[in-house]
Amino acid sequence: MKEIFVDLGKDSYNITIDKGILNNIGTLISKVITPRKAIIVTDKIVEPHYGKIVLDSLSECKFDVKLVSLALGEEQKTLAKAEELYGHLFDHEMDRKSLIVALGGGVLGDLAGFVAATFMRGIPFVQIPTTLLAQVDSSIGGKVAVNHPRGKNMIGCFYQPKAVFIDTDTLQTLPKEEITAGMVEVMKYGMIKEAAFFEYIDKHLTKILELDSDALEEIIYNSCKTKAHVVELDETEQGIRAILNYGHTIGHALEALTSYKKYRHGDAVAMGMIYVSKIARAMNLADETVIKRQESLFLKLGLSLKDTELDPHDIVSKLYQDKKTIAGKLRFVLPTRIGNVIINDSVSEQTILNVLAE
Ligand SMILES: NC(=O)c1ccc[n+]([C@@H]2O[C@H](COP(=O)([O-])OP(=O)(O)OC[C@H]3O[C@@H](n4cnc5c(N)ncnc54)[C@H](O)[C@@H]3O)[C@@H](O)[C@H]2O)c1
Ligand SMILES: [Zn+2]
Repeated sequence: MKEIFVDLGKDSYNITIDKGILNNIGTLISKVITPRKAIIVTDKIVEPHYGKIVLDSLSECKFDVKLVSLALGEEQKTLAKAEELYGHLFDHEMDRKSLIVALGGGVLGDLAGFVAATFMRGIPFVQIPTTLLAQVDSSIGGKVAVNHPRGKNMIGCFYQPKAVFIDTDTLQTLPKEEITAGMVEVMKYGMIKEAAFFEYIDKHLTKILELDSDALEEIIYNSCKTKAHVVELDETEQGIRAILNYGHTIGHALEALTSYKKYRHGDAVAMGMIYVSKIARAMNLADETVIKRQESLFLKLGLSLKDTELDPHDIVSKLYQDKKTIAGKLRFVLPTRIGNVIINDSVSEQTILNVLAE
């Protein structure tokens, strides 16, 4: 078992990582929150695997608990779905002290967290992320949101959970391509903060993809530690937290320009990571090995890194519409080597166009 304390003053909490912890999740949660009225929010795919075990465990620990299973996907991460969920909270007569337990992937966690943040101006919630991406990224850091037809994650706020419980065993039922998607984020942490972690991933990739418990615990622990550390320094993204967007600026533009249909998030981010590395090389900030080592790991992960076939000018225009663009300036997170990135506001448009056209 591994624990990480996320130090955010009165909003601090622990991340607990271990195999099999769903079996006594009731006990673990009751150490953080005294038993009370609670709702487990999950989705129709996760529920058959893990709904009952979490429900039984919380009931045994004297929580007055009900389970709500939503039909959910990225398209349903909406205010309408949040409203449906508020209805369930009223039905269960939840009050300001009641607890929401979010059991599922990032879509579920973002939605349930948003509902927890807004129901009666905020009620306690805990995260039990069940995808690799949710375990290393979305469940930590307190960003909760729903999508709007005009943009992803545009309606949301910062709202920290009371605790995060990561059971590495839940990854056994996750489709392979979801593991790959999560691995791109894991690599991101290696790139932004720790060369030794990047080496670990490279060396143990086979074990990781075989879902070996120890290897999973190691990569999840290191990823969460890095994310937690960055969030501690900059909870509401005024500065340094932006490094977590490594590869995401161009990645988001590729996703948006293709209406989120052509690329999976992980593929788009992987391509984004390579593009910014090429930008860094063009600006003499990084050398060729930085590109090659990432490319080689992506290939081992089975990502194809296809050409975009998009007009570089369209990509650049899209970059200006990113919600993270400040005062019309494009902000890039550029690698200087494996394990270090810098935030740079002075990449010329011509450099971006050249790299995209390469
Ligand atoms: N809040 C943040 O900081 C943050 C960060 C990154 C991403 N996100 C958000 O996360 C979302 C993506 O999350 P995701 O990648 O987890 O996708 P997801 O939540 O859509 O889950 C992927 C699929 O796997 C299923 N699933 C989940 N756990 C499973 C398990 N253990 N076994 C079998 N199937 C399982 C889900 O039902 C879903 O069909 C996006 O909406 C994105 O905006 C948020
Ligand atoms: Zn991402």
